[in-house]
Amino acid sequence: MKGNGYGNDNGGGGARFLREETYSASRKNVEEALSLTPDAYRDGDFFLAEQKQIFARNWVAAMPAQTVANAGDIALAEVAGQSLIVARGDDGELRAFHNVCRHRGTRLCEENARGQKRIVCPYHGWGYNLRGECIGTPLFDKGANRRAIQMHDMSHLSGFDRKDYGLLPARADVWGGMLFLCLDESAPPLADVVGDLPSRLARYRLQEWLPLARRDYDIRCNWKLLFENAVEYYHLPWVHPRLAKTSRVSDHRRWQGRGMYCGICTSPVTATDDAGWLSMRALPGLSDEEKVSGYFFGVFPNLIYFVMPSHAFVIVASAIAPGRTVENAWLIAHPECAGDATEKDIAEVADFWNEVNLEDVAICEKVQRGVSLAAYPGGRLCYHFEEPVHRFQQMVIDNMTGIRRVPRGDEDPPRKSAAQAQPEARE
Ligand code: FES
Ligand SMILES: [Fe+2]
Repeated sequence: MKGNGYGNDNGGGGARFLREETYSASRKNVEEALSLTPDAYRDGDFFLAEQKQIFARNWVAAMPAQTVANAGDIALAEVAGQSLIVARGDDGELRAFHNVCRHRGTRLCEENARGQKRIVCPYHGWGYNLRGECIGTPLFDKGANRRAIQMHDMSHLSGFDRKDYGLLPARADVWGGMLFLCLDESAPPLADVVGDLPSRLARYRLQEWLPLARRDYDIRCNWKLLFENAVEYYHLPWVHPRLAKTSRVSDHRRWQGRGMYCGICTSPVTATDDAGWLSMRALPGLSDEEKVSGYFFGVFPNLIYFVMPSHAFVIVASAIAPGRTVENAWLIAHPECAGDATEKDIAEVADFWNEVNLEDVAICEKVQRGVSLAAYPGGRLCYHFEEPVHRFQQMVIDNMTGIRRVPRGDEDPPRKSAAQAQPEARE
């Protein structure tokens, strides 16, 4: 990669992607920086490295928390290639476990379930309650019945205590109605990641919002292209001609405080007959600005959240391969908004977002095809619009190089239109 502005490739395999010097051109201020090295979107070694450095070390969004709302609910998720069971115990607690039996390692669960009291291994029947405790080891220990003990002469069994063989835990937490999972015990709490979002969005009461519709997208591009696309509005006039009528480029501004997130706000959302997203009534209790605004942000690494006055469109992105991402997307709303809406209203909003998302998907797939060409040397960011992209890329680089850092966010940026916007120094 000599002569491309990113420095020399001075290491085999993925090792170079863990070194700060690989990213020196992207570490500059947004006014001068090159976008992330194209290898970040196309290289198999980068993909493997980011699974370890990003997805295995951070809180990763998985699904609406509603999926495991009740005691006995079980849901499966995958984080950094690891299968996890999320379960709501009889004590009401939400927990996550690695999907593996403590006996000889059989995969325990294959699908979501409701009304479960226990998880039983399909191989030799070891059982676990939904608190993760091992509660049954048939014919194995002193808990076996007398006849079994006689039959199998297990009197010599020692040094075994079921308490030591509970399911292997992972971390689970909830914000914004979404369940997050984390494989890394040493990662800071989810509260640090979402930063000031809970207070900024407090009036929305997002923890009460419920899924109304779901769509899944199998996309031929890298997950980072989708995140980057979601937090910039530069592309609006070309990619979303319909959306641009209600969400005008000049009505956007950056919207990012402390936390591992970045994004933009559009205010006001212009009401037109064509505005599919206005089919539902606004949530009572919002501020005057919130009643007419949309907040579009991404929470690092894989949650994309578009909050409107009456609903939100939420995307969980799963990185499958360098050039492939699966998006699970939900239309969610507060019951006070959804309750008043007809099925037609909801379908209209869902269709509107599906249309917008398909436009984004199509352009991101084109970007993937472009950045996959060996000739592409990386490009410059447009500081008027792409500071959130730059901020995201700094988080990627931080993680790849082993730095844990939560961006402080903007200093209450003054409201300004794109035309008036001036370059602002990176923190
Ligand atoms: S592997 Fe699970 S009970 Fe044997
Ligand atoms: Fe878009």
